[in-house]
Amino acid sequence: MDGNGRWAERQGLPRNAGHEAGETALFDTVEGALELGLQWLTVYAFSTENWKRPPAEVRFLMGFNRDLLLRRGDELHQRGVRVRFIGRRGRPVPQRLVDMIEATEAKTARNTRMTLQVAFNYGGRAELVDAAQRIAEDAAAGKLGRVTEKSIQARMYQPEAPDVDLLIRTSGEQRLSNFLLWEAAYAEMVFTETLWPDFNRQELRAAVTEFQSRQRRFGRV
Ligand code: FPP
Repeated sequence: MDGNGRWAERQGLPRNAGHEAGETALFDTVEGALELGLQWLTVYAFSTENWKRPPAEVRFLMGFNRDLLLRRGDELHQRGVRVRFIGRRGRPVPQRLVDMIEATEAKTARNTRMTLQVAFNYGGRAELVDAAQRIAEDAAAGKLGRVTEKSIQARMYQPEAPDVDLLIRTSGEQRLSNFLLWEAAYAEMVFTETLWPDFNRQELRAAVTEFQSRQRRFGRV
């Protein structure tokens, strides 16, 4: 959900106002995903590298994300959305936020219409490191023989999540920024100049239409 800060600066507002505007974009995009019948939608809300931002912005984002779940968790639940988080949950993520994340996951666990995955304190390399650590532990305990793609997949944060089909990057940047490195191996990428607060269901629909025009070969001819 990239471009909140720039959107705010262009309007002469503080960066945090951009994150607040990003909430509206997120909920309209979720609505669009439901209309399209998507089963999985993953959004990047905070990366393992985002801790390097000014402390005041980091503090704002921690409070904001907790508050957002508190204010709008029920709405997602009523829409039949299962909410799940991927990323590291220990410190420095505030315990109050972890509690809210876990309460939202528990409340929505039985919903089947769509899964909204929120990548929070997430890094693609950190996820691979954590999977490798678990593989080492399971191998040492005699619970794992050969390492295969399947045994790595089984140790990702959400093993049952499908591979990424379509990856949309907003705000004119054209890089992966440590997002879903393993899962996006064959993802189709769509880049848009739109800053995240201006993203919406129409933009999602346009990206899906673009995706449908692509030929996916998965290494074949
Ligand atoms: C990146 O814009 C955006 C973020 C770091 C935060 C986005 C978070 C939300 C919209 C809330 C989502 C929360 C939940 C629980 C789903 P940026 O600051 O990098 O913008 P810039 O590149 O223009 O500076």
